[in-house]
Amino acid sequence: MSAPARGVALVSGAGSGIGRACALALAGRGHALGVIGRRLAPLQAVLAEAGGAGLAVVADVRDAAAVEAAVRRIEAEVGPVELVVPAAGVACIAPFAELSSQPFDEVVATNLLGCANLLRAALPAMLARRRGSLVPILSVAARRTFPGWSAYSASKWGLLGLVETLREELAGSGLRILALTPGATASPLWDALPGEWDRGRMIPPEAVVAALLWGLEAEGAAVEEIRLRPLGGDL
Ligand SMILES: NC(=O)c1ccc[n+]([C@@H]2O[C@H](COP(=O)([O-])OP(=O)(O)OC[C@H]3O[C@@H](n4cnc5c(N)ncnc54)[C@H](OP(=O)(O)O)[C@@H]3O)[C@@H](O)[C@H]2O)c1
Repeated sequence: MSAPARGVALVSGAGSGIGRACALALAGRGHALGVIGRRLAPLQAVLAEAGGAGLAVVADVRDAAAVEAAVRRIEAEVGPVELVVPAAGVACIAPFAELSSQPFDEVVATNLLGCANLLRAALPAMLARRRGSLVPILSVAARRTFPGWSAYSASKWGLLGLVETLREELAGSGLRILALTPGATASPLWDALPGEWDRGRMIPPEAVVAALLWGLEAEGAAVEEIRLRPLGGDL
């Protein structure tokens, strides 16, 4: 195993779906990995598939102290974080009037507050180094709404507000923020959702990865947002 050529890519939700695909591609780009999720086994499997350089830390992104400790540990044991990909996320579907506070709050706490926790933990050291990129995984649901997706849209629209504010605050800091807003993407996220979902009509995670890499590597411009939609339109 050769030493990684780039700084650490910190990826939450790296054990499956989009986060997993991003982590593997970033390892291929030469980053050591710091991967975070609630289950250790899938994180370790990603590290093994990526060649082993990095650290898997179990943390629930809703727990700010646990996320802070995870990021400190990754920085101490793997190295300076250069790239943050907050991909941990959950979804639920139900008409708002039938949705109890528990699933609603879980979605907002994970997708919005969890992403804020990760960015807050990583930012001070990145700002001190004056380099790095933040690539939050938002969603088409940050740009349009779908019946039944109130909690998810609230979380992603809220996250978009955070991301766009942060981009203004980061002007001149040396840090960049690239928001990815994919439509329905074939991942395990859909397994627990009610309804029939045609994975064949969805975006492959590899297309999200291609957007991530292009956004990072585009020269002479700061790419601020990349929207991806299924070829046949939104599901
Ligand atoms: N799939 C889509 O259609 C789609 C489209 C646009 C955007 N997105 C967004 O893309 C991101 C990745 O989703 P995905 O589709 O790849 O789904 P996924 O395969 O279900 O992956 C989500 C990951 O997040 C982790 N996670 C969930 N809750 C967590 C928590 N509280 N703390 C730490 N980790 C947590 C899960 O691992 P553990 O269970 O082990 O924690 C899992 O690995 C999400 O933000 C999602 O909203 C998805």
